[in-house]
Amino acid sequence: MSSNTPSLEQFAARKLEGLERRHLRRRLVVSDNQPSMKTVRDGRLLTNFCSNDYLGMAHDPAVIAAAQAATERYGAGSGASRLVSGGHPLLFELEARLAAVKGSEDCIVFGSGYLANLAITPALAGPGDLILIDELAHACLHSGAKLSGAETLVFRHNDMTDLEAKLAKHRTTARHTLILTDGVFSMDGDIAPLPQLNRLAEQFDAWLLVDDAHGLGVTGDGQGTAHAFTPPSRAALQMGTLSKALGSYGGYLCASRNVCELLRTRARPLVFTTALPPSAIAGALKALELIEADQERCARPTVLARRFARACGLPEPASPIVPVIIGEEADALAASTALQEAGFLVTAIRPPTVPRGTARLRITFSAAHSESDVDALADQVAPMLNALEAVS
Ligand SMILES: Cc1ncc(COP(=O)(O)O)c(C=O)c1O
Repeated sequence: MSSNTPSLEQFAARKLEGLERRHLRRRLVVSDNQPSMKTVRDGRLLTNFCSNDYLGMAHDPAVIAAAQAATERYGAGSGASRLVSGGHPLLFELEARLAAVKGSEDCIVFGSGYLANLAITPALAGPGDLILIDELAHACLHSGAKLSGAETLVFRHNDMTDLEAKLAKHRTTARHTLILTDGVFSMDGDIAPLPQLNRLAEQFDAWLLVDDAHGLGVTGDGQGTAHAFTPPSRAALQMGTLSKALGSYGGYLCASRNVCELLRTRARPLVFTTALPPSAIAGALKALELIEADQERCARPTVLARRFARACGLPEPASPIVPVIIGEEADALAASTALQEAGFLVTAIRPPTVPRGTARLRITFSAAHSESDVDALADQVAPMLNALEAVS
């Protein structure tokens, strides 16, 4: 056993006490995930309404078989960074397929979506450059901006007037400017106004990076948020993840050949890390194939989200993500516990994942849910919403 260092122990214990007091401590709980969005927690079978496995790909027999076959053929791990000897053929195949889906010249696959965002912004921006980021953009876009060392300004959520004013005021003094946003916002489920963002990017010679982690597979006929618009509104930098609707693990950037080539040489989270295991790549490839063949499956999570929203009197969602804003952290935790007692897993989302005062239930829908699962959840959530309304 390693020896304890008193000052370190005191530091950790004091921090934990403070987090506990403010209802902000988080705990890891064993979740034994099963097909059909079921999960076992503390010996109880629950219906999972907080997974990002929007299409049920993680337990799809064809995806599992592809992952197993890749393990047999290429091994359990990649053995090295892609730039050393970890570049197995499936990675190149996946990159070509993602580039085709996203309508880009090229694509690079990273170890995760989080790593992709730690890679992209710091490779393209530094001191002397400017980053404008939506206030509700995902934590890893914010982390990438911070890591880059560029000046970073936050614009109000989806507020194109605020963004334009900031561009007009600050663009000319910056060497290069990046605009960072989610495509589908992870905690709210709404969609960024991509045509306006692309227009502003062009007008001010700024580079638009759209994180479409929650768009691929479920918006724009499965091709992602860019395709939710007519004509499609593609950003210069289209980033996403393999870990949500594709049911696997990994991240990607679709962009021009030159940009991707630059990142292959300069992006530290690509250069200095081991390539993804073959099973993850093969699973993602198979999931992409299934998505292209089955539009109904792609539409179903949002159809179910709308069914739920209607039953609860909530605004119509644009994606499979439905936020139920509770407010205080303790109340969100209590609502989550009540749902768990009723047989549903909906983890409470608290700051800093969401702004203070907006602790919530983030309810996500999957093609693998049944209509009766959704209706049973609505039966529990609707009275909670009525009670919230009564006290507000
Ligand atoms: C918008 C967004 N971007 C990026 C990520 C990170 O992706 P990954 O889970 O593949 O690291 C997430 C996942 O939590 C996300 O919601």
